Amino acid sequence: MSALKDVPDLTAEEARAEHDRLAAEIGKHDKAYYQDDAPKISDAAYDALRQRLEGIEARFPELQTENSPTQRVGVAPSGKFGEVRHARPMLSLGNAFNDEDVADFFQRVRRFLGLSDSDNVYFTAEPKIDGLSASLRYEKGELVLGATRGDGETGENVTANLKTLKDVPHTLTADVPDVLEVRGEVYMSHADFAALNERQREIGKPEYKNPRNAAAGSLRQIDPTITASRDLRFYAYAWGEVSETLADTQFEAVQRLGQLGFSINADMIRSGSLDDILETYRGIEQKRAGLGYDIDGVVYKVDRLDYQERLGQVSRAPRWAIAHKFPAERATTKLNDIEIQVGRTGALTPVAKLEPVTVGGVVVSNATLHNEDEIARKDIRIGDTVVIQRAGDVIPQVVEVLLDQRPQGAPEFKHLDVCPCPLQTPTAREFNERTGKMDAVRRCTGELACPFQRKEHLKHFVARQSFDIEGLGTKQIEAFFDEEEIREPADIFTLAARNAEGALTPPLQEREGWGDTSVRNLFAAIEDRRTIGLARFLNALGIRHVGEGTARLLARAYTSWAAFKAVAVEAAHEGEAREGLLGIDGVGETATDAIGRYFAEPHNLELLERLEAQITIEDAEAVANDSPVAGKTIVFTGSLERMTRDEAKARAQSLGAKVSGSVSGKTDILVAGPGAGSKLKKAKDLGVETLTEDEWFELIGG
Ligand code: IVH
Repeated sequence: MSALKDVPDLTAEEARAEHDRLAAEIGKHDKAYYQDDAPKISDAAYDALRQRLEGIEARFPELQTENSPTQRVGVAPSGKFGEVRHARPMLSLGNAFNDEDVADFFQRVRRFLGLSDSDNVYFTAEPKIDGLSASLRYEKGELVLGATRGDGETGENVTANLKTLKDVPHTLTADVPDVLEVRGEVYMSHADFAALNERQREIGKPEYKNPRNAAAGSLRQIDPTITASRDLRFYAYAWGEVSETLADTQFEAVQRLGQLGFSINADMIRSGSLDDILETYRGIEQKRAGLGYDIDGVVYKVDRLDYQERLGQVSRAPRWAIAHKFPAERATTKLNDIEIQVGRTGALTPVAKLEPVTVGGVVVSNATLHNEDEIARKDIRIGDTVVIQRAGDVIPQVVEVLLDQRPQGAPEFKHLDVCPCPLQTPTAREFNERTGKMDAVRRCTGELACPFQRKEHLKHFVARQSFDIEGLGTKQIEAFFDEEEIREPADIFTLAARNAEGALTPPLQEREGWGDTSVRNLFAAIEDRRTIGLARFLNALGIRHVGEGTARLLARAYTSWAAFKAVAVEAAHEGEAREGLLGIDGVGETATDAIGRYFAEPHNLELLERLEAQITIEDAEAVANDSPVAGKTIVFTGSLERMTRDEAKARAQSLGAKVSGSVSGKTDILVAGPGAGSKLKKAKDLGVETLTEDEWFELIGG
């Protein structure tokens, strides 16, 4: 393609021609991305197209029609299907990557349940299908609702589409529970995938990258007749809400689903021996290529459903199941450069810029190099030929260097002593007191002075899982930050007023890439987010080790920003507040320390004050929990006889209680088993209610 003229040099006629060409091209990519789940170009290339189009429209505003891609985002907003709140969350799975991880999992299960090595625990093993999970809700035997997993709590209503699958019965005739939610995987066979892509080619439509994308794209069609033409399949392997239990074991429950008319995987086995299970894994791995559909591992589940119940879940994954993944796929390519990226927390991450190569059906041009020790250990140098691997959705990694192909004189990689940001603040590796070692990660020491870190914080603040401000993405944050118009979160909410007062020069609507409509839309989107839920807000703050999951747990535990902040500020200085945070299921030492550090920093408190003046933080809904111990702080001491300490703790937390390790004025109940000592005495001195283990079980209902 010949070089493009600069926008200011375009004649009106050239501008119109190019505008139309760009609009059509962007339209095509939008469709590929939003409707077909199969983007054909990188995000950066797509941004470049949009930027050019916006530049042209800024100079020739008459070209900015209602139909221009600049006036809409995507073709199919995520609201194209109704939302479904799952009656029981759809969980994901933890991973095991080798035999040892599996042995650890078996051990963890036993330990949690307080079983000895001689007690038999049976597990099921079955292929992990590489598709997308779906939930089918039957009421009195009639299929009433079909949904995608979504974020696990809320999915999309795709009932009409799921009904077109041959494996999805509309009516269950056998004797079934009144409410039965059947869960499983929607997938496409290799043969159907190849045929579909051939049809796509014939009619000039984009091809799908892999069967998983094809299944997802086909299920999420607005027109169910298209889904019907796609030969999707469904394997049932789990269930959600059920009004009567299906069986006593996982194995039998799945067989029962088979009897009801669902397709179940014939390769499922059940065994109490680790060796058997691992042998099954290898057997399935051998069969993998000939199965006719993609699988990416083997799933192990505790067979007894009463055990599953007792084991419960940690954050989004059950304690009673694990996915044993197959080794990643590999490819060889050239390392063109090593780029240093500065993250939100100042971590410098070296990234391998690769000669693009296809690995497992996906084009890869970047791989993580983790940190400088890793580069030194593998002796990775620019110009090297490297082996890379990619497993599922995990970021590709450089596995090894092919030394015999190293170009002569390739120099060793040298870490950066200063941050690549304009301030060039020194970088350092911290001493980690917990591990007693130097951190592997090198960080920029500039913290909030480092413009790169601040920018990353702001990008995170506006991102989809945080404030989700439409029209304020990476590119816009970069520009506003560089112009010193948005330097901290509160500035986002004063932008419109400052623009109206003429404090922005030139006014936003007069800048390249902006027009009256896009400015209006941006300000409306910002206004729209002045009120935000607590969980999102906590995630948006970007506190180290407080991601979406932890933010949700904190929001549920404290419900209001004021309550959380009070504890967090205390936690910066004082042990009891730390105990409070640690008592929440899923919140560990690392997150607690990080929260304490964040709130000990006066700069952060000031920044928060300015932000609080701009926005309203809505209370989170307290978990509806009518258990008598909800909200109470419990301490266990002495030896427990009916459960392990871990199980007792998890059980109390699942009932909405906080579990603490030490007795204080905030303790509500001390559960004391035989051998209780100083804690029991302290509780008595403080007048804390004290229960025996049996009394505790009576209180929580057995
Ligand atoms: S069980 C409560 N079994 O893997 C556990 N999941 O990485 C729910 N998957 O979201 C999942 N094959 O989409 C289970 N035989 C199988 C599976 C399977 C594929 C998917 C499922 C899940 C994901 C977790």
